[in-house]
Amino acid sequence: MIKILVTGGAGFIGSHTVVELVNGGFQPVIVDNFCNSHRSVIGNLEEITKQQLIVYDVDCTDELAMRQIVTEHPDLQGAIHFAAYKAVGESVRFPHKYYHNNINSLLVLTRVMDAFGIRNLVFSSSCTVYGQPDQLPVSEETPYQLAESPYGYTKQICERILQDLVRGEGNTISSVLLRYFNPIGAHPSGLIGELPLGVPENLIPYITQTAAGLREQLTVFGTDYSTPDGTCVRDYIHVVDLAKAHVKALQWMADRPVGCESFNLGTGRGNSVLEVLHTFEEVSGEKLNYVLGDRRPGDVEQIYASSEKANQTLGWKTELHLADALKDAWNWQLKLETHTSSK
Ligand code: NAD
Ligand code: WQD
Repeated sequence: MIKILVTGGAGFIGSHTVVELVNGGFQPVIVDNFCNSHRSVIGNLEEITKQQLIVYDVDCTDELAMRQIVTEHPDLQGAIHFAAYKAVGESVRFPHKYYHNNINSLLVLTRVMDAFGIRNLVFSSSCTVYGQPDQLPVSEETPYQLAESPYGYTKQICERILQDLVRGEGNTISSVLLRYFNPIGAHPSGLIGELPLGVPENLIPYITQTAAGLREQLTVFGTDYSTPDGTCVRDYIHVVDLAKAHVKALQWMADRPVGCESFNLGTGRGNSVLEVLHTFEEVSGEKLNYVLGDRRPGDVEQIYASSEKANQTLGWKTELHLADALKDAWNWQLKLETHTSSK
């Protein structure tokens, strides 16, 4: 079995990827300090995968601890680096926190990979690197716009670090940059999903928490955009489809020369905020209490992916739809209380 280090493997996207790694015959070695996840995720993952998982409660900016882990697993062949802070608004308030964690964790990981000869790295990037592109759907060739937030800038810097490493002397690290669009949904088992701490910034957890009565009402941020119904358009991708792309990326890298390639991961379809709300109401049978409000500062008007490159090169494409993702997110919300009570 091919062993893969998975930093942030207890998080939203990491946990779903752990399931797909196991399904694909890989053995994940999870490193997570649980700064944004519950320990109960591990038990739930073990229930889904029906196996005991290797887990380290370690901060991956701690180089000594990371070296120790890799020493204990000399057969590691690759890494997927999810560990990062991801709240855009928080990054504006606490930039240092974001620069420290998101950049140092990558620097430490690549140093350790280099020292121990671990070749393949899959990096969690984001559509945020594009800002508001001039042309849609957005392809990988689209140049970066000035980052709107420290969070977005950390993704641009990390991508640049990995591109520079490949050009560096004696480099042995090969990387794939996966630019996720808007990951949503949950595992169909309802055992793992997204666990936002505090008041969610993202649309889908806000919807499910409002429908569950945890939030009084949802505000639609802006209704005067140049889009068909005036609300923002995004490319919402089911987290299970997204997770599967990581396995495809690792398989693709295995027999390629050292390099750095980026791939968009989206459905290729844009949905407006109102379309999302109405689809949620249909699949859940719940009436959402929402109001139409002002624009949220920093929001791009519309963005959706061309995932042609990932389709053609990685042999990956999405199989699930917005309605599936919203149904699974709602199922997860309904079961949430039970699954997280043991933290
Ligand atoms: P998440 O917060 O659910 O998962 C991140 C995990 O990393 C958490 O379990 C957290 O405890 C852990 N972590 C953070 N810093 C750590 C550290 N220093 N050491 C060890 N563990 C640490 O986030 P997610 O939604 O699963 O996102 C995963 C990755 O994908 C992140 O890099 C994020 O920036 C990126 N991304 C997310 C989205 C999104 O909308 N969710 C979109 C694009 C990109
Ligand atoms: C989606 C749409 C909001 C909440 C963020 C990051 C991006 C990436 C994905 C990490 C927007 C609207 C939201 C609400 C609303 N993450 N909305 N009412 O902003 O597209 O992307 O997550 O890399 O970098 O910026 O996602 O879920 O916050 O918003 O109307 O209460 O829903 O205006 O149009 P976003 P989101």
